[in-house]
Amino acid sequence: MHSFLTLPRTGLFSSLILSVQFSHHVLAASGLSYNGLSITPAMGWDTYNAYGLDYNETTIQDNAELLVNLGFRDLGYKVVIFDDAMTEKNRSANGTLIENSSKFPSGLKNLVDQSVHSNGLQFGVYSSAGRFTCGGYPGSLGYEAADAAWWASLGADYLKYDNCYNEGNSGTPKLSEHRYAVMSNALNSTGRSITYSLCNWGDDKPWEWASTIANSARMSGDIQDYFDRPATSCPCGPDEYYCQLPGYGCSIINILGKASHITSKNQPGYWNDLDMLEVGNGGMTYDEYKTHFSMWAAIKSPLIMGNKLYELSPEDYGILTNPAIVALNQDPEGSSIQRRLVEQTDDKDRWGVGEVQLWSGSLYGGDQVVAFINAGKSSRTISYDLVEVFGGVRNNEQAMQAWELYDLWGNETVIPAVSAAMVLNGTVGIEAVDEGRWYYNASETSWADGLARNETLLLGTPVGRVEAMGMLSASVPGHGIAMWRLRRAGGAAKRKRDEL
Ligand code: GLA
Repeated sequence: MHSFLTLPRTGLFSSLILSVQFSHHVLAASGLSYNGLSITPAMGWDTYNAYGLDYNETTIQDNAELLVNLGFRDLGYKVVIFDDAMTEKNRSANGTLIENSSKFPSGLKNLVDQSVHSNGLQFGVYSSAGRFTCGGYPGSLGYEAADAAWWASLGADYLKYDNCYNEGNSGTPKLSEHRYAVMSNALNSTGRSITYSLCNWGDDKPWEWASTIANSARMSGDIQDYFDRPATSCPCGPDEYYCQLPGYGCSIINILGKASHITSKNQPGYWNDLDMLEVGNGGMTYDEYKTHFSMWAAIKSPLIMGNKLYELSPEDYGILTNPAIVALNQDPEGSSIQRRLVEQTDDKDRWGVGEVQLWSGSLYGGDQVVAFINAGKSSRTISYDLVEVFGGVRNNEQAMQAWELYDLWGNETVIPAVSAAMVLNGTVGIEAVDEGRWYYNASETSWADGLARNETLLLGTPVGRVEAMGMLSASVPGHGIAMWRLRRAGGAAKRKRDEL
């Protein structure tokens, strides 16, 4: 047995060992999901951030078409979530939900068949584990089995399940777990594979109990399209890992701080949901959106866009389609990046925010991801040595090793603005403009296969190496990020995922 470990990893014999290890790893990973789903975080698009409750059939048709034509579906953005307000305001006399026929004149089933499923997309529904949804429509508390059966009959693939009007059935983890488990069982009883996404805003610490009944859970109040602007409606600060009043209007820096304390709770099949993406909604700068998207991806939040796809700028499109960043999110190891250091600086903006954050974590095949966030208002050079990068432990084996560096925002992995503009205005199809330089088709080659084959697009742009005990350094714009994939110089090695 022991001699296996000491054999050099070359030649046929060792590649056999590696493939056995890999398939064992994947099997072990999928076994952690309570229903076998969401082995990597869900990806898709949702109506709420950009439209609120004001969406209809045309909204769905337009955005679904663009998910396909702009290449989002083939990057993995598959689920289309009808977020709240999908039904009439009252149930029928026999208690069933009634679809809203003025919003969906073709009928929900037809709309879903024609615009969602026939396009290779998935159908996401929404309700609340309460008397009403947050928008005041009928909630599913007490109607779990009937509602789940109706959604399944429409072809639902995903449920976002909220927490409004829960009639006091919360306040302890057990109360919340019991309430949400009823719907988990109801979904299972439909016989349809339905990803179960809790939206209870971190209430009663779902990261401690939800992995055995669900695939993800929101861990914060609602996001707002600002980098660090505080809001009284989101009263808990970024240092509070548990918030009794989650609220709404939470900024990127606020949610990132709260998420930093619970990153170790992520695992294949269960993910902390940092809320839907704001990229494309206009409230942040290019650098702020890059920071937002990069960190949501590396933490392994579900990546659910919340924008109007027909209003995307070339820059926003380049962010959302960067394969080297999406590859972090869909990495088969399923290990979240972790925060190692926060250092306050004098460069505070008007909200009093101005720190530097250092994050790192492990990826498939022994690679590492490292991020420097500059939350200050102006550009600065940030440097950390490998001991700091890998968690500050001296004699750290990873720090005593040389690494090849790949810039995850290098030019070669981001669509040039001129090409993006042509794809967005429909002048050229995505495949025509691509030539394999920036666009990755994960429907053709999965993320796991692409990584196993060392697809250049997934690795980022090579920018040299850092020697053992050396220093990583970058000039980072205000509110911006520098991010690298690190690969052991002299060949990739296997390493187990970060401990939970
Ligand atoms: C809550 C959720 C949001 C959205 C709305 C819909 O606020 O947290 O994500 O689903 O309800 O009304």
